[in-house]
Amino acid sequence: MAAKWLKDTVFYEVYPQSFKDTNADGIGDINGIIEKLDYVKSLGCNAIWINPCYDSPFKDAGYDVRDYKKVAPRYGTNEDLCRLFDEAHKKGIRVLLDLVPGHTSEEHPWFRESQKAARNEYSDRYIWTDSCFQGAPGFPYIGGECERSACYILNFFKCQPALNYGFYKVTELWQKSTRDPAAMATREAIKDIMRFWLSRGCDGFRVDMASSLVKNDDEKKSGTSAIWRDVRRMLDLEFSDAAMVAEWSNPPLALRAGYDMDFCLNVPGGGYSTLMRDYCNHGGSRNGDRNAEDHSYFKKDAGGDMNRFLDQYLAWYEDTKDWGYISLLTCNHDTIRPGYNLDTAELKLAYAFLFTMPGVPFLYYGDEIGMKYLDIPTKEGGYFRTGSRTPMQWDNSANLGFSSGKAGDLYLPVDPSDEAPTVAAQEEDPDSLLNTVRRILALRHQEEDLQADAGFQVVCSDPAWPFVYRRGSLLCVVNPSGEAQKAPLPAEAAPTDVLFAIGNVSLENGSLTIGAQSFAVVK
Ligand code: NOJ
Ligand code: CA
Repeated sequence: MAAKWLKDTVFYEVYPQSFKDTNADGIGDINGIIEKLDYVKSLGCNAIWINPCYDSPFKDAGYDVRDYKKVAPRYGTNEDLCRLFDEAHKKGIRVLLDLVPGHTSEEHPWFRESQKAARNEYSDRYIWTDSCFQGAPGFPYIGGECERSACYILNFFKCQPALNYGFYKVTELWQKSTRDPAAMATREAIKDIMRFWLSRGCDGFRVDMASSLVKNDDEKKSGTSAIWRDVRRMLDLEFSDAAMVAEWSNPPLALRAGYDMDFCLNVPGGGYSTLMRDYCNHGGSRNGDRNAEDHSYFKKDAGGDMNRFLDQYLAWYEDTKDWGYISLLTCNHDTIRPGYNLDTAELKLAYAFLFTMPGVPFLYYGDEIGMKYLDIPTKEGGYFRTGSRTPMQWDNSANLGFSSGKAGDLYLPVDPSDEAPTVAAQEEDPDSLLNTVRRILALRHQEEDLQADAGFQVVCSDPAWPFVYRRGSLLCVVNPSGEAQKAPLPAEAAPTDVLFAIGNVSLENGSLTIGAQSFAVVK
């Protein structure tokens, strides 16, 4: 059972280095997040997820942790982070940190010890073969780099050695089982880190590469799932209100493993990526023709087909609705921003859909004003992802209000365009994307039928017609086409009220006409 508070929660993802700089060094910081909590609240977001903010050499923007229990000096101090927890709680905002359990930085003291020839407490904290001349077939590995005569396995980039949680199927002498004392010790070390932050006021974790712990796992990820269920037991006993969202992209497995939520992110065969476009392509399709792959349902007259998303989503939803939540997201720090190819009118419809769906939605900083994806050189292992990680655009002052430092010192350049959207400009316009997001989220908080648990059924997903779905007693209608259309409502439906509209919507004698590029919620 998922944490109760998630029922009416909308998350805002904060990329700390790019949100708000308060000491003019060009890098966003914890105090900047504190300063902007009222803004987050004003959107209708009542929880935040902060990307890793721990001490790190930043070869993968902080996903290479050097000290799990210390805030990176560039962001502030542990005291600042604890103050953020307190200030957020006073405003009714929960805070998730990012837990990176699968690997550390190669500069983590555990790894430094593990590399030594002499055996010590950390020798088996990572996965080593028996000799520097024996590789690890089927895994990315490194040999010849340290005093110890052995090769070690990587979990992601070269800077990220894999922590040892054991092998589900042991096929080589050097592989340990998941019950091996060293594998159990790694598991306890992660619980210890979780306790450290939870006891200081953190409300839970977004978990990086959650399915990656146990190697040679079976198809159902039985080994890794057993570890998460064990972690969940600890949470239930010691921090029963804590919530965890997985980066797993397999809700049936993640939610059964004890997660409250799983992201609908990298979905084989389409799903989320085809929903918004092929824009959130992990492989980085930004070099491709902007429109060639453009099947987003929300793109005007692109002939998008909602079923390309629904086929997978509905199967997952039906299977998991009693277990926890599927989290739809506007985008994240690993994907190309939706503003890359959807314009404001299209983004409004996309967000109206995302924020009226079941589960717990996530809004990535800056997507609420339609920040653009910038074509810029890589930074800290970002590669194509760097273009989605640029500084938040607050107003038209220097550095778009992100920092009062020198432009050349900024973590990443701000959007140089004259048309760069800003919060300040959109505050003035009742019809802006920002204010539309606020309206939709206010509606979601007001109507229990639009929240995480309320029922969801597809009424019409025929691509020739507007998309119609039921949420509890409400009907939602999206028309991304350039033509006004009659909404294909169920025969027995006789709505009398339009609760919410984007664009032109008219309801007469129970018959709903939905204008070009419009959205409605009726009752
Ligand atoms: C997923 C994170 O979201 C991404 O940014 C990171 O590079 C990898 N995991 C490795 O930790
Ligand atoms: Ca700073």
